[in-house]
Amino acid sequence: MSTDKVQIFDTTLRDGEQVPGCKLNTKQKLVIAERLDLLGVDVIEAGFPISSPGDFESVAEISKLVKNATVCGLTRANQKDIEAAAQALQYAVKPRIHTGIGTSDSHIRYKFNSTREKILERAKEAVSYAKTFVNDVEFFAEDAGRTDNEFLAKICEEVIKSGATVLNIPDTTGYCLPEEYGAKIKYLKENVKGIDDVIISCHCHNDLGMATANSISGALNGARQIECTINGIGERAGNTALEEVVMILKQHPYLNLDTNVNTRLLHSTSQLVQESMGITVQPNKAVVGENAFAHSSGIHQDGVIKNRDTYEIMNPEDVGLTESSIVLTARSGRAALAFRAKNLGYHLTKDQLDVVYPEFLNFADIKKEVIDDDIHQIIENCNIFITKVEV
Ligand code: KIV
Ligand code: ZN
Repeated sequence: MSTDKVQIFDTTLRDGEQVPGCKLNTKQKLVIAERLDLLGVDVIEAGFPISSPGDFESVAEISKLVKNATVCGLTRANQKDIEAAAQALQYAVKPRIHTGIGTSDSHIRYKFNSTREKILERAKEAVSYAKTFVNDVEFFAEDAGRTDNEFLAKICEEVIKSGATVLNIPDTTGYCLPEEYGAKIKYLKENVKGIDDVIISCHCHNDLGMATANSISGALNGARQIECTINGIGERAGNTALEEVVMILKQHPYLNLDTNVNTRLLHSTSQLVQESMGITVQPNKAVVGENAFAHSSGIHQDGVIKNRDTYEIMNPEDVGLTESSIVLTARSGRAALAFRAKNLGYHLTKDQLDVVYPEFLNFADIKKEVIDDDIHQIIENCNIFITKVEV
């Protein structure tokens, strides 16, 4: 069975930048856009051009800079927004306008004070108008997660007729269960005329911690684009994390889905985004967190030292780290201490370890983490003769 590509649509600079306090200037955005292009994402959503002169400028400058990825600008379903996006994207090698409107009954009633029929018309008009500027038009059905499937299918079919090339089915509020979101994509695949000529895109928010699971479920049911951000940043609880979906597909090759992302750049890209946006990810963040490849309990350390496979399902080198780390704490065992000491040039015999290990435990009970300098000191304090090999 051949492997299908899942396009990675990065929205770090648009949905990600909606995080309070994360506003970047154009120069910072250009650095991130250049890195995303190098990373191998297929689409960079560079901003929302009508929203401010700064955003317009960023989208225009990113359009001039990016060589490989499609550059995309967000709009609401109105002519002014679409014109601004078209203007900002005019220098892009591969421009895409991303336009759309809320389709759930809640959005139709409370946001637009409108009706399904009128929303359908606006959607068609927006796509047709965007099409007069660019060939590549993505339509988003905001709050698709809570939109009635029959109406969603109708609107999808109509915007395909108007020229949409990509259909974005956002779980805007992060409410769907993975099974439900996957079933929604399957329903569209089975009930929308022309669906096989366009790409279905997943755009999932993380309000209940299910963004990644929902996106994968969408891909398993026929979606071939996933919208995501580095470190999962974004509105409220954030978006699907790019590094998670990319590594899930890589580590499950039997799904026959992969991406164009160079995974070895994931860690450094995550660091770049953390530093530029001033948001540090939690240590236990999947794939890019400080502890994602760190082992601290004795049982785990013993296993990893014997064979990495015992407690690691990813190779740290695949995400751009040089190695896993064995963190020494009061829960570490003799194997871990001997391993770390050996890296520092101390080849401890069993008898020597009998002396050093209790000292280490006393030390570790006082200090949360025992670092290399501490190991030197502990061994020296033990007053035993150990030949130190230069490393
Ligand atoms: O979450 C959402 O629905 C969005 C759309 C604007 C695509 O971000
Ligand atoms: Zn969103």
